[in-house]
Amino acid sequence: MDTHLADVWFELTDLQVSHGAGAVVTTTDGVDHLDLTSGIGVVNTGHCHPHVVEAIREQAGRFLHAQVNCYRHDRLEPLAARLAEITPDPIERFFLANSGAEATEAAVKLAKQATGRPHVIVFQGSFHGRTHLTMAMTTSKTVYRAGHAPLPSGVFVAPFPYTFLTGEDEDAAIDRCLREFDLLLRTQTAPSEVACVMIEPVLGEGGYVPAPTRFLHGLRDRCRDLGILFVADEVQTGFGRTGRLFAIEHHDLQPDVLVMAKGIASGFPVSAVGSSAELMRRWPTGSHGGTYGGNPMGCAAALATIDVMTEPGFLERAAAVGDRFRAGLDDLAARHPAIGENRNLGAMLATEIVDAEGTPDASRTAAILAHLLREERVIVMSCGPFGSTVRWIPPLVIGDDQVEAALAAFDRALAATG
Ligand SMILES: Cc1ncc(COP(=O)(O)O)c(C=O)c1O
Repeated sequence: MDTHLADVWFELTDLQVSHGAGAVVTTTDGVDHLDLTSGIGVVNTGHCHPHVVEAIREQAGRFLHAQVNCYRHDRLEPLAARLAEITPDPIERFFLANSGAEATEAAVKLAKQATGRPHVIVFQGSFHGRTHLTMAMTTSKTVYRAGHAPLPSGVFVAPFPYTFLTGEDEDAAIDRCLREFDLLLRTQTAPSEVACVMIEPVLGEGGYVPAPTRFLHGLRDRCRDLGILFVADEVQTGFGRTGRLFAIEHHDLQPDVLVMAKGIASGFPVSAVGSSAELMRRWPTGSHGGTYGGNPMGCAAALATIDVMTEPGFLERAAAVGDRFRAGLDDLAARHPAIGENRNLGAMLATEIVDAEGTPDASRTAAILAHLLREERVIVMSCGPFGSTVRWIPPLVIGDDQVEAALAAFDRALAATG
């Protein structure tokens, strides 16, 4: 195709779209598609939620940009106060940026400054971004790293309990991973050199694998004992995706640092790093920043998004979407041996596609996604190290009829590709 756009962008579909509403995007030639990507976990309130659109419209007439170092606009403090209300304790102060990678990287900078320590521990299969540091922290697929060496040093990778791949039962996997974590601290980096541990409460790009509660608590306890900061990367799990505002709330666990992006502003590029005031004070003034972080348009979009998500019933509805989707997937698993496993936390769902031997089947997965797109007008992505995990990320405002339509389409796609 004749284009002036960079080739580096991977394309899930060749659709040219003109507008979106709720769970539907419409092509320039007028064909509706059900969007089960939510723009990769961003439009949790649906495409163009009217309250968010209105807030952006109103803000656009007053300020497009009011740079935070130059002056403080009237949406900034209210957004920080609102984030303090909705995030788990002890999170109460916020640094604002634009993308997930910027925020995860900023969280590491905060952790280094606050502890005076140089290293970070992440987990096998994690995805924290595509800048040089966050690439070094990303091990979901080699494609993100290959050709970019040398990557920054000081990043250590511990195992994550992905039982579908290892065939262990959950307890055995947790025990092994915690043992390996302890060994890493004896053999690769001394605890006194580790600023933070960063973890996704549900492994995202790496396979949509929920971290078990006992694993998270095991890590949290070790961090507390060793003076290491525990950072939850809730870029993809946050803002209602798992049926709670933040996935960490499922585990009764307090992070030292919380990283947010994607769903925070329904599509406006906003990200945030939150911590206690005491921790934030240890980040020297002027040592970090950015031209656009805290932009008034983004703040207005985030405030409106939080309004929508804290309306009575919104999160219950998100959880119900996850339950309904999961029940339908389990019905399909009973009839289609290609489904090796379904799993979910709220509306963050995964289906492992396998061949007759039970091994991950990337080509069948690709055929299923192609069938869903071409024959059913349903847009779905894969994830996981083999590209054989179907990931379902419906907008949380999706209708029951749309969930049923998606499941029926998946049923036909499985039958057509068998
Ligand atoms: C858990 C997680 N962290 C960080 C990122 C990076 O976010 P961005 O693509 O906005 O830089 C992503 C993106 O998918 C993510 O899922």
